[in-house]
Amino acid sequence: MSDPAAGQNISSVLQEHRKFSPPPAFAEQANIRSEEAYQELWNRAKDDPAGFWADQARENLTWIEPFTETMSGEMPETKWFVGGKLNASAQCLDRHLDGWRRNKAAIVWEGEPGDTRTLTYQQLHREVCRFANVLKQLGVQTGDRVTLYMPMIPELVVAMLACARIGATHSIVFGGFSADAVADRNNDAQSKVIVTADGGWRRGKEVELKKAVDESLKKSSSVKKVVVVRRTGSSITMAPDRDYWWHDLMDAADADCDPTPVDSEHPLFILYTSGSTGKPKGVLHTTAGYVLGTMLTTRWVFDLKDDDTYWCTADIGWVTGHSYICYGPLANGATVVMYEGAPNWPDEGRFWEIIEKYRVSIFYTAPTAIRAFIKWGDDWPRQHDLSSLRLLGSVGEPINPEAWMWYHRVIGQERCPIVDTWWQTETGAIMISPLPGITPTKPGSCTRPLPGVVPDIVTKTGQSLGANQGGLLVMRQPWPSMLRTLYGDHERFRNTYFSEVPGCYFAGDGARRDEDGYYWVMGRVDDVLNVSGHRLSTMEVESALVSHPQVAEAAVVGFPHDLKGEGICCFVTLKQSDGDDQLKSDLVGHVRKQIGALATPDQIRFANGLPKTRSGKIMRRLLRDIAAGRESAGDTTTLEDYTILAKLRQEEE
Ligand code: PRX
Repeated sequence: MSDPAAGQNISSVLQEHRKFSPPPAFAEQANIRSEEAYQELWNRAKDDPAGFWADQARENLTWIEPFTETMSGEMPETKWFVGGKLNASAQCLDRHLDGWRRNKAAIVWEGEPGDTRTLTYQQLHREVCRFANVLKQLGVQTGDRVTLYMPMIPELVVAMLACARIGATHSIVFGGFSADAVADRNNDAQSKVIVTADGGWRRGKEVELKKAVDESLKKSSSVKKVVVVRRTGSSITMAPDRDYWWHDLMDAADADCDPTPVDSEHPLFILYTSGSTGKPKGVLHTTAGYVLGTMLTTRWVFDLKDDDTYWCTADIGWVTGHSYICYGPLANGATVVMYEGAPNWPDEGRFWEIIEKYRVSIFYTAPTAIRAFIKWGDDWPRQHDLSSLRLLGSVGEPINPEAWMWYHRVIGQERCPIVDTWWQTETGAIMISPLPGITPTKPGSCTRPLPGVVPDIVTKTGQSLGANQGGLLVMRQPWPSMLRTLYGDHERFRNTYFSEVPGCYFAGDGARRDEDGYYWVMGRVDDVLNVSGHRLSTMEVESALVSHPQVAEAAVVGFPHDLKGEGICCFVTLKQSDGDDQLKSDLVGHVRKQIGALATPDQIRFANGLPKTRSGKIMRRLLRDIAAGRESAGDTTTLEDYTILAKLRQEEE
């Protein structure tokens, strides 16, 4: 692939002609069974979005008060289901209590050490009601923000739905982030309460969450109360009148709590994600549109049925876990498998053991994980009975065709359709994906837009491009589950997503559409890395490096990495002294402390200077070539000092 940032038309070198039709046995029983049904839904949603979405919202959501207007206002200020009142936790729980589903397993959980717990819908409902009362008792009111910094344990889902039950807005911070990152997010959201655990298990080691919370609270004064789940049993300090044990509060809490009716547009959660500049962006999602979007896409894309056992391996700290572990599946009354730990603990067969043990039928994971499975070898999955699987999914980054083929052959045993789902934190729900009963798949393509999604591939001025021309991926119509703002910075929201291409939502990805109308996403066009399927901004890693006392300047770029998709390469100029290995490892540790383990640099390269244009702009394109070990093909005539490139290349050797 050429450098996506280099021009407005992007050339793609990926040639892939294999095509796989849905297996007939799958197609016969699928939720969407005919191409005509898809075309009809898609065309109706495009031509009459208000009519289409009104029908979907009435049919699928339980309204406490009906809405009076389906959509109002132009993108990006579109409001959905105006005048309606509902509650997201009631949508995920209370609706299932009237009939047989009340004793259906909602969450089948397995901890990394092997402990297990199952919560039926009724049990989950009780826990959520009790924790909702706990939050109220701690002074949390409708509209307040609550930070959740927790391991993958059922209490995390309980806490999310308890927030939703009282109309509080949750802000989940992934457990791999550092104390500083927690403090920044607490401050930005002005959270009143933080819910955490003593620790969680990851690859046999304890992740010390409470310790990080204690450190973060030195820098975030809005947080007044801390609730701590006992998970690992390790020794922690509890501050009087600030820190409370989850089990103590829950023991004393009443199990009745009516859901608070909130407006359709009431903020459900904030989730921070990386952009190319500045601090992380607090993507805000609201209630009705988001819940409807995740609910419908779960049913369409994963072909969910009542007897499925569904497992999404994401962490709830990312949007995939919000939408496809919690809200989407639970709103549909699904049985969701939830796993706390690493895929290679105690050995590389753990995922396949879980699939066999719980008879998982739908499995949703990320290309970075698939590449790791390939590396570990076919023997691990072969040792387990995977015959319960009927559908496989992928998300987070483009899946390379060879990884797709391996997934199809070894895990799906050539029996299971693969849904390669393209979407983002900002879109809330899956946007472009095969419908497994009808869409012939091509390895590496996320195929076609779902009903209600009207994408295009355009130039910077918004002109549509023809087949197989690479350009910017945009959305021409608003959709209910889209983000509503960046928390506290509406102008940045408008600038980031709606100013680049006039009249459209700009996703930040480069893509092409082939002669069959299939989309092929090529990756980000901004300075955002996709490391193991997680978005990281080069700018944040640079800021972390420059905050080290010995660093004068830093430029961070991605390079192709076999397992992680992209690795992080840091070019660093020092204030004085020459760098040595000790300083390299200090800098790696420094970035981990500032951002978290997920931002661990793969390479640190010291340089006396960075390649800059005469106007002082760092030429990242050249650094990307060096990091990838390629010759620089493009134009270097604007470079201020030619000798710098040669010096940087020498550094490599
Ligand atoms: O570049 C695209 C890539 O991940 C980005 C969104 O990242 P995030 O907001 O962290 O959400 C990840 C999980 C939804 C996109 O802009 N991406 C995600 N899914 C795919 C993908 N790229 C190609 N194919 C996909 N299926």
